[in-house]
Amino acid sequence: MYKIIKKRLLAPSVQLMEVSAPEIAKRAKAGQFVVVRVNEKGERIPLTIADSDPGSGLITIIFQEIGKTTQLLGTVKEGEEILDIVGPLGMPTHIENIGTVVTVAGGVGVAEIIPVAKAFKKAGNRVIGIIGARSRELLILEEEMKKHCDNVFVATDDGSYGQKGFVSDVLSDLLSKQINIGLVYAIGPVPMMRVVSELTRQHGIKTVVSLNPIMVDGTGMCGACRVSVEGRTRFACVDGPEFNAHQVDWNELVSRLSLFKKEEKVSTERFREECRCKKG
Ligand SMILES: Cc1cc2nc3c(=O)[nH]c(=O)nc-3n(C[C@H](O)[C@H](O)[C@H](O)COP(=O)(O)OP(=O)(O)OC[C@H]3O[C@@H](n4cnc5c(N)ncnc54)[C@H](O)[C@@H]3O)c2cc1C
Ligand code: FES
Repeated sequence: MYKIIKKRLLAPSVQLMEVSAPEIAKRAKAGQFVVVRVNEKGERIPLTIADSDPGSGLITIIFQEIGKTTQLLGTVKEGEEILDIVGPLGMPTHIENIGTVVTVAGGVGVAEIIPVAKAFKKAGNRVIGIIGARSRELLILEEEMKKHCDNVFVATDDGSYGQKGFVSDVLSDLLSKQINIGLVYAIGPVPMMRVVSELTRQHGIKTVVSLNPIMVDGTGMCGACRVSVEGRTRFACVDGPEFNAHQVDWNELVSRLSLFKKEEKVSTERFREECRCKKG
C-alpha cells in the first residue's frame, strides 16, 4: 500500500500527489514512469514520475482526470492509500551535454517534462522551455519550469496568457531565428508531438518524443503499448517511452489510442453515475 502524503489541485481536473514509495524514489530517473492500480478491481494506468526524493522516500505524480481511473484516483484523499504502484519503469531519458535543448510541453505534459528539463540543465545545457495550455487557468507549473530553464515561453490557445496559439507556433518562431539547437524534446497530446516532429524534420534537428500508447502491465509482456518506430515494432514500456520523433509511425499510434474509445466512454459514464448515486 502507498500512502498519499500530500494532495493539491494544480488546475481544474489536474491533481498533484506526493506518495510514499521509498524504493521507487531511490531509483527513479528522468523520463521514467510508474504503473498505478488504485484498488483491487482497478485497471492499471501509467503515470510519469514528475519528481522523486530519495531522502523523504516520496514520489510525485501529476495527472489529469480524463476518464474512469484518473477520476477514481482523484477521489483518494490525503492520508489514504493506493493499492499498487510499480516502478520505476521505462528507459530513463538519455541525458548529455549537447548545447541548447528546447523542451516543448502541452497540457499535463508540462508535469512530465520538468524532470527532463531539470536533468538537461544539470548536465550543463542551455534549456529553453515552451509550455502551453488551452487557457491561462489550465496552465500548470510555470514557476517550476522557470527554475530549470534559461528561458520559458508560454502559449495559450485562446490567448488568455502568453502568446496566442499553440506551443508549436512558438517553436516555429524560434526555429526561424536560426539559433543553434542540439535537441528538441516534446511531450504532450499526439497531434502536438506530431506537428513538432514535422517542424523539426524540416530543419534537420534531432527530436525526441515521449509516447503515450495504452499500457497495461508496463513490463513488456502484454504487447498493448506496441508502436512502430523506423518500421520496427517496439514496446513503449520497455524500449521507450522515448523515441526518435522522425521515425515514429504516427498514424498507427493515433489509431491504436482510439481502439477502446467506446468502452472508455461507457466506463467513465458508469463511474460518474455511481459517484452521483453515492452523493445523492
Ligand atoms: C508512459 C506514460 C506516462 C503517462 N504519464 C501521465 C502523467 O504523468 N499524467 C497524466 O495525466 N497522464 C499520463 N499518461 C496518460 C494516462 O496514463 C492516461 O490518461 C490514463 O491511463 C487514462 O485513464 P482513464 O481511465 O482515466 O481514462 P480513459 O477514459 O480510460 O482513457 C482516456 C484516454 O487515455 C488513454 N488511456 C486509457 N487507458 C490507458 C492506459 N492504460 N495507458 C495509457 N493510456 C491510456 C487513451 O488515449 C484513452 O483514449 C501517461 C501515459 C503513458 C503511456
Ligand atoms: S504495456 Fe504491456 S508490453 Fe508494454
